[in-house]
Amino acid sequence: MTKLIATTAVGLEEIAAQDLRDSFGLPALAGRNGAVSISISGPAPCPEVIDTVRILNHWSRSLNRVGVILCEGHCPDLDSCYQLALGADYSPLIDSEQSFAIRPLRKGQHSFTSIDLGRAVGQAVIDSVKEAQGKRLAVDLDEPEAILRAGLHGDEFRLWLDTTGDMPLHRRSYRKQHHPASLMPSLAYLMLRIANWAGGPLIDPMCGIATIPIEAALYARGIPPGQFRTGGWAYERLPWMEPEPQATVSGGTIPKPLVDRDTRLEILGVERFDRHLQGAWLNIAEAGLSDELRVVQGDAADLESVLDDSESYPVAVLNPPYGRRIGSRGQTEILYGRFCQSAQRSGIRRIVVITELLRAMERSVRDANYEITARHPVMYGDLRAVIFVAEQA
Ligand SMILES: C[S@@+](CC[C@H](N)C(=O)[O-])C[C@H]1O[C@@H](n2cnc3c(N)ncnc32)[C@H](O)[C@@H]1O
Repeated sequence: MTKLIATTAVGLEEIAAQDLRDSFGLPALAGRNGAVSISISGPAPCPEVIDTVRILNHWSRSLNRVGVILCEGHCPDLDSCYQLALGADYSPLIDSEQSFAIRPLRKGQHSFTSIDLGRAVGQAVIDSVKEAQGKRLAVDLDEPEAILRAGLHGDEFRLWLDTTGDMPLHRRSYRKQHHPASLMPSLAYLMLRIANWAGGPLIDPMCGIATIPIEAALYARGIPPGQFRTGGWAYERLPWMEPEPQATVSGGTIPKPLVDRDTRLEILGVERFDRHLQGAWLNIAEAGLSDELRVVQGDAADLESVLDDSESYPVAVLNPPYGRRIGSRGQTEILYGRFCQSAQRSGIRRIVVITELLRAMERSVRDANYEITARHPVMYGDLRAVIFVAEQA
């Protein structure tokens, strides 16, 4: 039995696990602190593990990293982390000729630092491999051949071999132009899943550099995010990974497109500011979607002047400003109210929106005669945000 870990946005573990079950046929279970686990019946490395690692890294839209769990358990102090890591068997996955690094992540109150954690666990791995294979593993913090992640959340410890690498999967290489408040592409995709979007007309009325429209089009067309990745994946440096990809995942499949090739996508992005619009066009071109997506300059508070009579967008997925990096909080709250009124007049039936300004958004959607049908709290970096689903009442 091999247990894989997939990491995602904290708070959306169940949405991501459902996505892995639906899209890949994997037995994914939601955990805590952004973790999803996948148990595979064979030992690591076996063909099912190799396929799953490769396919999730290449195809998954909702994940940040994919790894193989080496050991996990309750560890109240540093010595118990050392002892647990010392007892793990590294020989099937880590060769004593390889260099390695521990990347520690510590959350909660501890009497030691993340650096202490990394040092103790690193020593345990060195001691264990020396005992089993008679050779001391070399440490290389800059360009290790094997990256091990040591996570300690409260007293829950987990050590895993990262198959993705230091560049997480949510960093999509089609993004050439940046934005001060851009959305993580993996979160954009999870919002599309929360919206139950199935490839029909979609509007992002405050699209910035078009993250949501781009992720929607890639999803609809069945284009893997890994197609754009520059710099490769950490698994390519692991000797036990086979060179040739296979087409199945543990009896499951790779995700299918949502729409057939002849169906025209109706995905519209609206953005008020020219500089972000320029960025959107550049990113769309980089993703090879210039013929698929439309982004226009306009005001989300006056969508009627953007849309012509023949256009109708029943679903809106958006990430409006929170009044932190852009504009003030007061102006932002006014914008929420005006956007919701305009959405109602424009025939938008479902709004899926991420925001930190919970009360202002709740008030705005209700005043515009929408009913909130779901709330998904999510950590967005250090921000506590909520993804609301609001349906026309
Ligand atoms: C948080 S950002 C969205 C980022 C976007 N999701 C991305 O990943 O690039 C909010 C965007 O809303 C735009 N915006 C603000 N007021 C607007 C309005 N009245 N109409 C349209 N866009 C607006 C801002 O310029 C900004 O680009």
